[in-house]
This record gives sequence, C-alpha cells and structure tokens, in this order.
Amino acid sequence: MSAADQPAATAAPLLAVSGLCSGYGPVQVLYGIDIEVRRGEVVALLGPNGAGKTTLLRTIAGQIRPLAGTITMDGRPVGGLAPERVAGAGLVLVDEGRAVFPTLTVAENLMMGAHRRRLPARALAAECERAYDLFPRLADRRTQIAGKLSGGEQQMLVIARALLAEPELMMIDEASMGLAPNISELVFETIGRLAAGGLTVLVTEQYVRLALEVAGRGYVLKQGHIDVAASADELRRSDLVEASYLGGGS
Ligand SMILES: Nc1ncnc2c1ncn2[C@@H]1O[C@H](COP(=O)(O)OP(=O)(O)OP(=O)(O)O)[C@@H](O)[C@H]1O
Ligand SMILES: [Mg+2]
Repeated sequence: MSAADQPAATAAPLLAVSGLCSGYGPVQVLYGIDIEVRRGEVVALLGPNGAGKTTLLRTIAGQIRPLAGTITMDGRPVGGLAPERVAGAGLVLVDEGRAVFPTLTVAENLMMGAHRRRLPARALAAECERAYDLFPRLADRRTQIAGKLSGGEQQMLVIARALLAEPELMMIDEASMGLAPNISELVFETIGRLAAGGLTVLVTEQYVRLALEVAGRGYVLKQGHIDVAASADELRRSDLVEASYLGGGS
C-alpha cells in the first residue's frame, strides 16, 4: 500500500515503543516490545499476571530505565527520561494500587494533579470544576477526606487527578482492581467518555471483556513478549484470549 492509501489515523503514532527491553536489576522482564498508540485511541494491554504489563507502563512513564529500545511521544524520544520530564511530554500514569493522598480532601487531591502546570488560582478552580462535571460523585464529596472514599471513588479521584495534569496520553494500570463489577463498569464508562472527548488511553485490565468494550485495539503480553496485536473485535472472537483470560469470568 502506498503512503497515499494509508488512512490518516495511521500517520503518526502519539506513543511509539520499539524494541523495548526492561527489568529490575539483573532480572529482565520485557524482551523487545513494539507497541504504538495513535492519537484518540483506547488501547488495551492484556496478559496474565506477571506478563510484564506494569513493568511496561512504568518503563514508559520513566519510573524504570529501559535496558534497550526506544520510546517516543509525538516523535520525540522520552525513553530514559525522569518521570517528571515524561509527564511534561504529556504522558501520565495512573499507577496500579490507586494512591490518593488519604489525609487530604478530594479537592486538595485534585489540585495536586495540576502542580506541574503552575496555574493561576482562577484557572485551577475552573479545571477542578471541569473534573467535577465529569465525576459528579466527586463533586458531592469535595470536602471529604480522600482516605474515607470508597474504592471506586478513590479510583475516580486518581483518574480525575491525572486529568488535571493535562495528559495527551493517559496510561491506567489495572483500572478496576479491587472494584465491584458495577463500579468497574462505571470506571470503564468514564474512560469511554474521556476518550470520546479526545483523550488517548493505554489501559491494563484483568476483566478483558470490559476493557474490550471500550478499547479499539489490544495487545496481549506474555512472558515479556507481545504475543498478539489485534483489533478489539478480533480479540473478542479469539479462542486464545478466551482460553487464557476469560476463564476466570468477568
Ligand atoms: N520490583 C521488582 N523487582 C524484581 N522483579 C519484579 C519487580 N516487580 C515485578 N517484578 C517481576 O517482573 C515480572 C512482571 O511483573 P509485572 O508486575 O510487570 O506483571 P503484570 O503483567 O503487571 O502482572 P499483574 O497482572 O499481576 O499486575 C514478574 O515476574 C514480577 O515478579
Ligand atoms: Mg500489573
């Protein structure tokens, strides 16, 4: 296919990871990972426990230095940069484990998300209101101490806080970990709404079916390699994925 025949969406990936190797000290976990995420896409990163999903997101976010390979954001290399500089390039990670600042209020937690942007007070307040519009449950609880929120509300808060950093690409590790099924659905509905508003998302998720309702494409990571790269439709139909990941039910 000639360049002129390519759909516009395939032109330039927002995030491009190529030949990425990473790990912890002498323990190599990722072996030559190639993935890309185009602007406006929701991409699911799937795979069994221990496959390396968290390691991949943390390496992209600058928390772990790659052993080899390249990571570019909008064509600019970000591999090996400190997490603050990666965030400055528009890449924000909502980490596994959902860390709110438990002794601060919901409003204070939200404002922490914008600290790097040094917004004037009025602009910051306006951005917080935008977040409350997206997450009405948080608006009702803005003066509440974050540690007293339910698990689902805490997950909403970390996603809302990450939005205050004005990411171009949000990576969410284990979007629904520890949440009841109806709350997990609410989290994914929210991700779908954010994506419809133009946010680009790379998400890992145990409940494959749920992730593939929102994602357009997915990668299956196995033992540190990309095993499958396919559209969400193909992944939904794939026996391989069914057998590997849907056995536990979702
Ligand atoms: N801090 C660490 N030091 C050494 N090895 C680690 C560390 N963190 C993770 N590992 C190892 O790296 C491998 C990949 O782990 P990782 O957390 O990336 O998997 P995952 O796909 O996110 O799994 P899960 O679905 O359980 O979250 C595992 O074998 C794990 O034991
Ligand atoms: Mg993980």
